[in-house]
Amino acid sequence: MQYNNSEFLIETSVPESELIVSRTNLKGEITYANEAFADISGYSVDELIGKPHNIVRHPDMPKAVFKEMWQTIKEYKKWTGFIKNMRKDGGFYWVHAEVSGIFKDHILTEYKSIRTPMTYEQKLEAQTKYDAMKEAPGELKRKVIYE
Ligand SMILES: Cc1cc2nc3c(=O)[nH]c(=O)nc-3n(C[C@H](O)[C@H](O)[C@H](O)COP(=O)(O)O)c2cc1C
Repeated sequence: MQYNNSEFLIETSVPESELIVSRTNLKGEITYANEAFADISGYSVDELIGKPHNIVRHPDMPKAVFKEMWQTIKEYKKWTGFIKNMRKDGGFYWVHAEVSGIFKDHILTEYKSIRTPMTYEQKLEAQTKYDAMKEAPGELKRKVIYE
């Protein structure tokens, strides 16, 4: 994978005052996105609804993180972790995410995620950890081209 979009290196900071919220069906397709999610991701709410949640997936994220997330939420447990997401313009934003099920009459019907900002130290720690995880066999490697 190669990225030569200069936006790739630009971070958008997550506002302290708003929660970034989305819901998905059981396949991970977005069924609800709030304005804060639209703003931070650079998509409109309409563009997000119906799309797989990997629309904001960043190539720096190891596959193993999402595998663990899905295993956890499928077992009806709450997953929390750090996620680097990619904006529509190629830039990125980091969030602390909580992902869990939505139950109707005790039956799992959807998933929801609520996200809050991270500190600089948390971002450094997560980027370092994910860079190391990316060295594992089966993970995609990326290359950034500076123009
Ligand atoms: C409620 C919910 C929220 C999610 N939020 C994100 C997210 O913010 N960023 C992301 O890359 N994946 C998120 N995912 C995981 C994606 O569905 C997907 O598994 C991930 O992007 C990896 O893509 P892949 O499964 O195509 O490899 C979320 C999943 C659920 C159920």
